[in-house]
Amino acid sequence: MSAPYDKLYEHFDSPLMRQLRAEAYGEDIGQHSWITAEELRADIPKLKLSPESCLLDLGCGPAGPLAYISAQSKCQAVGLDVSANAIAAARARAASLGLSEQITLQQANLNEQIPFADAHFHAVVSIDVVLHLRDRAAVFREVARVLVPGGRFLFTDAGVITGPVSSEEIQSRAPHGYAQFVPPDVNEQLLERAGLRLIETCNRTPGLLKSAAGRLAARESRRTELEKFEGSPTFLRQQQYLQTVLALAQRTALSRIMYLAESR
Ligand SMILES: C[S@@+](CC[C@H](N)C(=O)[O-])C[C@H]1O[C@@H](n2cnc3c(N)ncnc32)[C@H](O)[C@@H]1O
Repeated sequence: MSAPYDKLYEHFDSPLMRQLRAEAYGEDIGQHSWITAEELRADIPKLKLSPESCLLDLGCGPAGPLAYISAQSKCQAVGLDVSANAIAAARARAASLGLSEQITLQQANLNEQIPFADAHFHAVVSIDVVLHLRDRAAVFREVARVLVPGGRFLFTDAGVITGPVSSEEIQSRAPHGYAQFVPPDVNEQLLERAGLRLIETCNRTPGLLKSAAGRLAARESRRTELEKFEGSPTFLRQQQYLQTVLALAQRTALSRIMYLAESR
């Protein structure tokens, strides 16, 4: 069975998709999330990576952020994603950047155990993925298990409920399959319970607003091409999704938060 993101990743690196990302984000790093290049550059030092380190990306997608981090820090890296198309696009990206020796990509379902031994990684990242996972407490315990003591875990959750949200909005906000939205403090508590010490949180909703508005406008300006390619119903559903993301963020009903924690 194909994963919910498979269709989106089919032509991820076509000229049209690259152009849309460049317009939407200002700088295309191959992300399929709300992260901007500036945010990622600010976060890399927090991971404390060196060329001897090993980094894990949970839900790496086509590995844009992962390739960027491993190129900058020269570390070894592993990317896991449930989508076969994500892993194919990620392998192509790693090869095109000359990073195939540095980056291992593997299809894996994060609702199951992380397929690595205890204390294998020096850092773990996960960008805008946790809201798709069924048991985040179990995932955080798995992260604590695969991290070395003192290893860093940095993730973003774009689904923190900070105001009233209607059932229609929830439906429109979740076109990519299963999604789970949590109130503030849930991630904080579950990290602590998993044995991960919270170091920092940061409200990344302003970046999401920029990326969502950029994606919406870029797609609208290429409407004819996209409708041919995606079909009208998908195009409209995606636009409605982006409009809902924007509206929820503008009235601070749904926030995107970055969490940085350390293994004990
Ligand atoms: C919003 S995208 C983020 C991709 C990437 N982190 C980035 O920043 O470009 C969310 C990703 O989570 C992956 N995902 C969703 N559920 C998953 C699961 N159960 N196991 C592994 N990956 C999953 C999707 O396939 C998708 O690539």
